[in-house]
Amino acid sequence: MYNSKITGLGYYVPDNVVTNDDLSKVMDTDDAWIQERTGIQERRHVVKGEGDTTTTMGVKAAKIAIERAGIDKDDIDFIVFATLSPDYYFPGPGVLVQRDLGIKTVGALDVRNQCSGFVYGISVADQYIKSGMYKNILVIGSELHSHGLDMSTRGRGVSVIFGDGAGAAVLSREEDTNKGILSTHLHSEGQHAEELSLIAPGMGKRWVTDILEDADPNDESYFPYMNGQFVFKNAVVRFSEVIMEGLNKNKLSPTDIDLLVPHQANLRISQFIQKKFGLGDNQVFNNIMKYGNTTAASIPIALTEAWESGKVNSGDLVVLAAFGSGFTWGSAIIKW
Ligand SMILES: CC(C)(COP(=O)(O)OP(=O)(O)OC[C@H]1O[C@@H](n2cnc3c(N)ncnc32)[C@H](O)[C@@H]1OP(=O)(O)O)[C@@H](O)C(=O)NCCC(=O)NCCS
Repeated sequence: MYNSKITGLGYYVPDNVVTNDDLSKVMDTDDAWIQERTGIQERRHVVKGEGDTTTTMGVKAAKIAIERAGIDKDDIDFIVFATLSPDYYFPGPGVLVQRDLGIKTVGALDVRNQCSGFVYGISVADQYIKSGMYKNILVIGSELHSHGLDMSTRGRGVSVIFGDGAGAAVLSREEDTNKGILSTHLHSEGQHAEELSLIAPGMGKRWVTDILEDADPNDESYFPYMNGQFVFKNAVVRFSEVIMEGLNKNKLSPTDIDLLVPHQANLRISQFIQKKFGLGDNQVFNNIMKYGNTTAASIPIALTEAWESGKVNSGDLVVLAAFGSGFTWGSAIIKW
């Protein structure tokens, strides 16, 4: 048995900054409301027609992660790509990354676990490396939300929250089983599937042809739906549970945490968790203020920024935790 460790991290966000004031020009919202409820000051949106997609952003983040890992793209044994906003309905972006990075014909797996996608992705990668099957795995989380949001006042409860961007990590074999990813913990509760969802187009209820045939200007089925308060209430409970589960599994306590990198769902959720676990400001990393919620990309972007700013050092106990649509949630306990 081996462990896996994160050997390279990278992120990419589009240049186009969209402030809360920018949003208030197209919908009935304001900076004070958004900041008070979510902590978000600005986010990035891909400018339509300028070329970036979920895949190209993922590729840009991946190139940085691979270089920092000190390996060649041909050393990558497997690709895991987490997103809820793929370029195509099918195939998923994993194979597009294999193509665009010119990686040999390794396996490419697409993960559909929304805000928990990156934690699910590194959990999968960790198992392959632990078993000895693969040595280096590229895990990407990338999202292009902005093209699919309802930017009118009708969609303001959702649209102000989400942003575009990508993050990537290379996981590599670690011989010392006291180092690297110590454990991962995954959960789901499908009874709440529709509480944060995008149901159309889908084969289950409404396909593209149904939407076109109806041509209903009041049709909201192809915009994301979120029961915000219900999501909030579940998130704070599940974040806490899954962090504790990970700590208990490793006979650790909250005081052992050097850095918690929570999925950037809402600054209020992160602050609730911080208080609950008695963590200081320097023990929790947040960047939702700058990027909004980038779903599967949020943890790898935040972890990369934390690492770049010297907040992640050898020997540190780093905890990743996520909650989102599904509902799905998970954590990873890492000895850096
Ligand atoms: C989305 C969220 C910020 C909304 O905050 P809230 O306090 O629950 O607000 P509500 O949805 O109850 O709406 C309160 C009022 O603000 C209004 N409102 C909603 N969005 C608004 C916006 N962007 N700007 C101004 N007003 C807005 C609503 O229309 C409502 O008005 P009303 O009382 O006249 O009907 C909050 O529920 C939340 O953060 N939930 C968790 C979201 C999350 O983490 N999602 C990702 C999970 S991975």
